[in-house]
Amino acid sequence: MSHPRTPRSRLMARDPRLGYLPERDRFLSSPGEPQYRFNVIGTGINGCEHIHVTMLEGRATIHGIYDPNPGSVQMAQKVFRRFAPDRQLRVYDSLEQACNDPAADGLIIATPNYTHLDVLRVAAGSGKHILLEKPMATTVEDAHAIVQIARDHPAVLQIGLQYRYKAMYHEAIHEALERKALGEIRLISIVEHRIPFLDKVGQWNKFSRYSGNTLVEKCCHYFDLLNLFAGARAARVFASGSQAVNFKDFERDGERSDILDNALVIVDYSNGVRAGFNLCMFAPGFYEEIAICGDEGRLKAYEEETFLPTHRPTTYMEVMRGEDKPSRIVEPCYPAEIEASGHKGATFYEHVAFIDNIAGRKTRAATVEEGFWSVVVAAAAQESIQSGLPVQIDEFLAARGIDAV
Ligand SMILES: NC(=O)c1ccc[n+]([C@@H]2O[C@H](COP(=O)([O-])OP(=O)(O)OC[C@H]3O[C@@H](n4cnc5c(N)ncnc54)[C@H](O)[C@@H]3O)[C@@H](O)[C@H]2O)c1
Repeated sequence: MSHPRTPRSRLMARDPRLGYLPERDRFLSSPGEPQYRFNVIGTGINGCEHIHVTMLEGRATIHGIYDPNPGSVQMAQKVFRRFAPDRQLRVYDSLEQACNDPAADGLIIATPNYTHLDVLRVAAGSGKHILLEKPMATTVEDAHAIVQIARDHPAVLQIGLQYRYKAMYHEAIHEALERKALGEIRLISIVEHRIPFLDKVGQWNKFSRYSGNTLVEKCCHYFDLLNLFAGARAARVFASGSQAVNFKDFERDGERSDILDNALVIVDYSNGVRAGFNLCMFAPGFYEEIAICGDEGRLKAYEEETFLPTHRPTTYMEVMRGEDKPSRIVEPCYPAEIEASGHKGATFYEHVAFIDNIAGRKTRAATVEEGFWSVVVAAAAQESIQSGLPVQIDEFLAARGIDAV
């Protein structure tokens, strides 16, 4: 007869007050041995979030890092020491060394967008498991090249579209796609209003040729979610947008910033679902909202950070199902320590999925094809903004020599 297993507490395992316990007296608070070792390529703000989250999750550890910027290396060492004060990170001198060290099982690529394809080519040569940050590339052509690389890759290649794991989207996915509480989905809308882009090493995110421009760089998350909820391929995209407020006076090495800061995007899907996206990047705080309308109900959810000392909920979700079925109103959230580790806990659960994926379990983590389609919709929206015309996706891909993926 098998005995039920006592659930171990990873939160307790990290509680410094239990540090006095000899290793052999730890049971509930035992962190267990990490099963995997990862190297992180690019340890800016996002690479450090991956280090933090890997150590917090506990089933893997960070073995080494590679970043040409000494400040980023120091920051990574500091984050790592918080979890493993007695261990040193291996710091590699080259990308090739970092990718091909047999001591590492997996690679996390968190370099600027315009480097992803080149870095991935080296990383894929190692045959290791890879978590590649979003957007997978700055152009549809490069994203397609990554789809080709992924076809021959013998291990996991997961894309960092981790907003799927924010508590409100996780719950919305459950309601709309698994429980089908809304019936057939017909109309979806997402709003993102936030402060301008943060400073980055080399300020790559102020220039479209390095970032892919705002709709690719940042909003690929939302196009991924629209694609996921629509459950079909985008057929036509129409958009309007501009650089109205942000970085109009920003120059670096004689080059002016050229990124969008506001846009409205309409996507028609091949199954008749319609979607809309509303972006404003000069808002005082962070606000994200999704509304999904089906033929049997409507879901609305939001997440908000105002920086004010108010005590109202920071997340909210309602599922309204009319007179025949129960409706519900909830505040989706994760444990506070996990939410504080970055992106309201989404990066943590992305890592849970990465490790589950490596272990051969089925997850909802973004595949390379899904990453590709998030870039396609974003890039088509940018083209529509430039031309003022709707973009037919099959023509858009054919013009780039790409058959549908
Ligand atoms: N999934 C998300 O929600 C999310 C959030 C933030 C950033 N990102 C993505 O993470 C990536 C990094 O963004 P960031 O905010 O950390 O930028 P950043 O500028 O803070 O850090 C990038 C780091 O990469 C290093 N770097 C540059 N070229 C490199 C190379 N060839 N090899 C190794 N290191 C190199 C830089 O020195 C820097 O330390 C981007 O692709 C970004 O879009 C994703």
